[in-house]
Amino acid sequence: MEGIPLSEEMVLKNLKEVIDPELNASVVDLGMVRNLKIQDGIVSFDFTLTTLKCPFRETLVNSTRKKIEGIPGVKEVRINLREMTEDDKRELFKERFQEETIPTNQIKHVVAIMSGKGGVGKSLVTSLLALSLQKAGKKVGILDADITGPSIPRLFGLKGFPEASESGIFPLSTREGLKVISMNFFLEEEGKPVIWRGPLITKAIQQFWSDVHWGDLDFLLVDLPPGTADAPLTVLQSIPVDGVILVTSPQELASVIVRKAAEMSRELGTPILGIVENMSYFTCPHCGKETSLFGTSHAQELANYLGVKILTRLPLSPTWAELADSGKSEEIPLDLFQPIREEILQKLG
Ligand SMILES: Nc1ncnc2c1ncn2[C@@H]1O[C@H](COP(=O)(O)OP(=O)(O)OP(=O)(O)O)[C@@H](O)[C@H]1O
Ligand SMILES: [Mg+2]
Repeated sequence: MEGIPLSEEMVLKNLKEVIDPELNASVVDLGMVRNLKIQDGIVSFDFTLTTLKCPFRETLVNSTRKKIEGIPGVKEVRINLREMTEDDKRELFKERFQEETIPTNQIKHVVAIMSGKGGVGKSLVTSLLALSLQKAGKKVGILDADITGPSIPRLFGLKGFPEASESGIFPLSTREGLKVISMNFFLEEEGKPVIWRGPLITKAIQQFWSDVHWGDLDFLLVDLPPGTADAPLTVLQSIPVDGVILVTSPQELASVIVRKAAEMSRELGTPILGIVENMSYFTCPHCGKETSLFGTSHAQELANYLGVKILTRLPLSPTWAELADSGKSEEIPLDLFQPIREEILQKLG
């Protein structure tokens, strides 16, 4: 047949269109086609599979054969099936997944935000502290370890399904550029409660730590669920937490739960960096007068008991609640968060 002469180049060009469905790349790029020879219209080559038991073996061989048979001038196709050696495989996977094998994260410091009771404002404090650290030029991520009641995405109006590769999950970014990973991103219906038992929760938290491409971070803040149950324990045991910020409300301070939470952190050797008293007072929008909301605060007692400082007292602010609940936390002023930030920067650098 007249026309372009049959060449190795032409055969390889055609074979580039045969894709290995498992590795999602062409058989040529995967180095599966070797010792290609063309003589008198007979095309022969070794077709090396990662394993001869490959479930796509027949499909791959057939489509490869068809592709070559379609080239003008080809009289016969001879395919010698071979199996890759261990060295071949290592080489192949090293090349293809080099950057992806495991996330190579450089996280300088991990700070967990903890409380005794629920609803005292941990998630809000975590979010605003993250923004405050970011304002100081730090690269910050938030790991939402509240698997059954994730609320960080809601505070930033953050939605989406994280991208994932063979090697891990990519966190989503807030408008301000904070990296966030939360169970909320993986739920079919946002807000639907996750009913999981302890071991699964533990697994999810560990994956959020080890299988997420956090990249380079100065600070990873971990928003814990309340109390001393499985999740906070997992975080303190399996993530290298440098310090804990204890969030309380005046109502909670007298309770033993907050002491228990603090003691758990201590027993596991994680220092408490300080206390944040949230919903501590109310500032009258008309006259500016501050009123304590729950009588005398017991914050100082707790601080003395634990031998740590009260870093800041935060007001109960309807404006904050409104902004937070409509996903605009970044519009909340950060001045009252500066003392927490300073303490963290001073203690952890
Ligand atoms: N200082 C504040 N002023 C007004 N509203 C606040 C304040 N702190 C928190 N809130 C609101 O109180 C609610 C609970 O806060 P948040 O979700 O941060 O608490 P949490 O301790 O993380 O709760 P959970 O234990 O359920 O995780 C939210 O609606 C939040 O917007
Ligand atoms: Mg929370």
